[in-house]
Amino acid sequence: MNSILQIKDKSFEISIPSEKILKEVKRMATQINADLATANPLFLVVLNGAFMFAADLMKEVHIPCEISFVKLSSYNGVNTSGKVTELIGLNEALKGRTVVVVEDIVDTGITMNNIIKLLTIKQPKELRIATFFSKPDALQQPVHLDYVGMQIPNDFIVGYGLDYDGLGRNLKDVYTLKRD
Ligand code: IMP
Ligand code: MG
Repeated sequence: MNSILQIKDKSFEISIPSEKILKEVKRMATQINADLATANPLFLVVLNGAFMFAADLMKEVHIPCEISFVKLSSYNGVNTSGKVTELIGLNEALKGRTVVVVEDIVDTGITMNNIIKLLTIKQPKELRIATFFSKPDALQQPVHLDYVGMQIPNDFIVGYGLDYDGLGRNLKDVYTLKRD
């Protein structure tokens, strides 16, 4: 395990080892197993970032459930703000179901609030949010998080699904951008 990591122009330093991450993932799964034992939830994994967290989490979830993957795409639409977001890849009917959104990180909260808005239209019975990381100090739009792995400071991180300019998603440990 290398403690310093260089990606393009930036230096990162190891901050959260894989063992610590997996311990928190197990804790989250235990809670989900207890809360949703009879709900037959649909886990909606938000790509790309959440792929690694989702794989680890779902190995520890032992209740009947379904898993599907979505992506948030943003394009230039014709509304007043000019930007429109949509969820792509969602083929399941959500009406009357318990849905658990699985995300890598909630930073400003803007993405998660968009996702909640887009899913609420589909009338799920209940919407729960599971995110591995949250940065409370960066939050701009409040959002209720049901399951959180770790709260972290407002620093840029890579690894465990999170990228810098497309790189670093494959790292099992998490690295923090060095301040110089
Ligand atoms: P939001 O600011 O809560 O809308 O988060 C938007 C997206 O920014 C997240 O889904 C991540 O893909 C990305 N992001 C936020 N913080 C970090 C970080 O520290 N490292 C890498 N990606 C991040
Ligand atoms: Mg993401």
